[in-house]
Amino acid sequence: MAITKDQVLEALGNVIDPDLGKDLVTLNMIEDIVIEGKKVAFTVNLTTPACPMKEEIQRACENAIKHLVDTEAEVHANMSSQVQQSQKMEDAESDTLSGVKNIIAIASGKGGVGKSTVTVNLAVALAQTGAKVGLVDTDIYGPSIPTMFDVHDRPNINTRRKLIPLEKYGVKLLSMGLLVDQDQAVVWRGPMVSSAVKQFLSEAEWGELDYLLMDLPPGTGDIQLTIVQTVPLTGAVIVSTPQDVALDDARKGVAMFNKVNVPVLGIVENMAYFTPPDMPDKKYHIFGKDGARNLATKLNVPFLGEVPLEQSVREGADNGRPAVVEKDLSPAAVAFKEIANRTAQQISIRNASQDPTDKIEIKFK
Ligand SMILES: Nc1ncnc2c1ncn2[C@@H]1O[C@H](COP(=O)(O)OP(=O)(O)OP(=O)(O)O)[C@@H](O)[C@H]1O
Ligand SMILES: [Mg+2]
Repeated sequence: MAITKDQVLEALGNVIDPDLGKDLVTLNMIEDIVIEGKKVAFTVNLTTPACPMKEEIQRACENAIKHLVDTEAEVHANMSSQVQQSQKMEDAESDTLSGVKNIIAIASGKGGVGKSTVTVNLAVALAQTGAKVGLVDTDIYGPSIPTMFDVHDRPNINTRRKLIPLEKYGVKLLSMGLLVDQDQAVVWRGPMVSSAVKQFLSEAEWGELDYLLMDLPPGTGDIQLTIVQTVPLTGAVIVSTPQDVALDDARKGVAMFNKVNVPVLGIVENMAYFTPPDMPDKKYHIFGKDGARNLATKLNVPFLGEVPLEQSVREGADNGRPAVVEKDLSPAAVAFKEIANRTAQQISIRNASQDPTDKIEIKFK
């Protein structure tokens, strides 16, 4: 008997997206079904190209057709994606952000835990999956993105008088460090910083972006609070090292986002352990073990993964070559890629299950 479209859809109605908890047909993810004899081809439109479940879902689709429709079917499930939009863009400051689907803040309570290093590697890893990615360095007092990407040119202004982000490793980027004289920046006060950040985001030509990552300055003070209220954030990623002093501050970071109703997408444990190159089986937990993982469990937020302490990560950061761009991936680079996928996964889950984030207005008396 000839295979029909209805049979294919009925079979695929049994394949559940494990993150979203619904079947692919209900989620409207199945497109372009083509049947020629025993050949069945269709497209599965996932919510992110960085979906860590991609292969699992592909296999489940193929099995569903073989088991439920025809054991001799030759199945081709093309995996495609379209990232969902989270912001209410009519609330956005300007039309330049209207093509940006998700804005994610990367924060830490404590300084120096590797926030910028994580941000840079996540941005490049997401771009490597095919996503359109932007990165904005809002750390005016200690911008590190220009060094980590080895870009130092002043951004140009286009005919619409908008800043044109620079581009490297497939990531569009802007940094305070490219615009503000570092000797002057140290005397800037909070309100100047927040208005500069606002300008930065709304007066730059970002174009179409799936993910715009924001590297925040360390801490949970006024400046951070103002920045996170400047734009409708999709969510926040908190970076911490495993030791108690960093975890206390990470907890404050989570509390800050809770206070302004920005979902915490998860916690990353950086500098989780050290493996000497000549002792690949050893793991030294220099800053303690599993601190950030345990904190995530305690606070009931996703744990996105752990990154080892690696000399090549530090060298790459100083030389403008993020770990994930190397051909031979180090264990830290593999971890960064997995964390990028898990972050994208959490964004998809969030967009499927929650209302778009409103820009938060906090009134000070
Ligand atoms: N996993 C790692 N392995 C080795 N070195 C690392 C790792 N993560 C970060 N570093 C190094 O640690 C230093 C601090 O990292 P980074 O600048 O990313 O931290 P930060 O949290 O952004 O700091 P700040 O609070 O100043 O913004 C840098 O020299 C960086 O290269
Ligand atoms: Mg930094």
